[in-house]
Amino acid sequence: MQAKILVTRHVYPEAIDVLSGSGELDYNDSSTGLGHDDLIAAAADKAAIVSQLTDPMTAELMDAAPELKVIANVAVGFDNIDVPAATERGIVVTNTPGVLTDTTADFAFTLLMAAARRVTEAERFLRDGRWQQWEIDLFSGHDIHHHTLGIVGLGRIGQGVAKRARGFDMRVLYHDIVRAPANVEEELGVEFVSKEQLFRESDFVSIHVPLTDDTRHFVGASDLALMKQSAIFVNTARGPVVDEQALAKTLADGAIAGAGLDVFENEPVVSPELLALDNVVLAPHIASASVKTRTRMCVMAAENAVAVLAGQQPPNPVNPHVFEGR
Ligand code: DGY
Repeated sequence: MQAKILVTRHVYPEAIDVLSGSGELDYNDSSTGLGHDDLIAAAADKAAIVSQLTDPMTAELMDAAPELKVIANVAVGFDNIDVPAATERGIVVTNTPGVLTDTTADFAFTLLMAAARRVTEAERFLRDGRWQQWEIDLFSGHDIHHHTLGIVGLGRIGQGVAKRARGFDMRVLYHDIVRAPANVEEELGVEFVSKEQLFRESDFVSIHVPLTDDTRHFVGASDLALMKQSAIFVNTARGPVVDEQALAKTLADGAIAGAGLDVFENEPVVSPELLALDNVVLAPHIASASVKTRTRMCVMAAENAVAVLAGQQPPNPVNPHVFEGR
């Protein structure tokens, strides 16, 4: 009997090509996704699920799916999956690290630059037909070059952002729970500092930590209060890492100059307070969204699922000891 595979939402077709030889597909080829009950019902007889970050993979779902061997998430983040519950039940969880690093780092820099140079605000002005003449102080923004960037979380994407900052002759500070080895610091030209020093001294703060119980609201009002009035805040990691209401208030009060945000606490809902602000560049969680990268992410998730179904160690396990125990 063929293994049953659930693909929860639309993916790039290359992933379907990878999966189709390895089992019987139940493909929800829609961007809407399945509701709570339908998702659990669809999972019930499946050996593999190819999920996305918008699909909650709960203990309840796992209990309803006794055949389930693998949840292959099409994302590097996996905060939508109850990994301890999966581990307890012997279910392998996989993600898609590496392939999206550069694309996401590019986008963090895109938001940083767009916010600093007020690009979206200026475009709205022009499109509204409000541009009358060249003016000396029209949309004057903030320089990026030779300024200080603070990176919170020096993982793969944080390092990618640090590399890009070198091209702008920036001083780069970073903070992380573990200090990087000296050779990495030297190669990237980054300085390890406390969280407080980072927020106090940076002209740009960019967030690159995963969402875990420890990082929920890792950035709050007291951190934002340390920032310079001319500073720009960027988040391409996960919304709940930042207290969104505190950030909106900080921006509305003019206590910092602007922000570039790709992620939000309650996606797809964005706080009305943020939507009302001109000095914030907003994007709908698209930092990894190049066709090439999103295709590779889909294929990688499919390959992870196929490997587990074939009884092999998947390339990108999040809880590898589950597989090793088999
Ligand atoms: C991820 O992979 O976790 C991103 O948020 C989507 O690319």
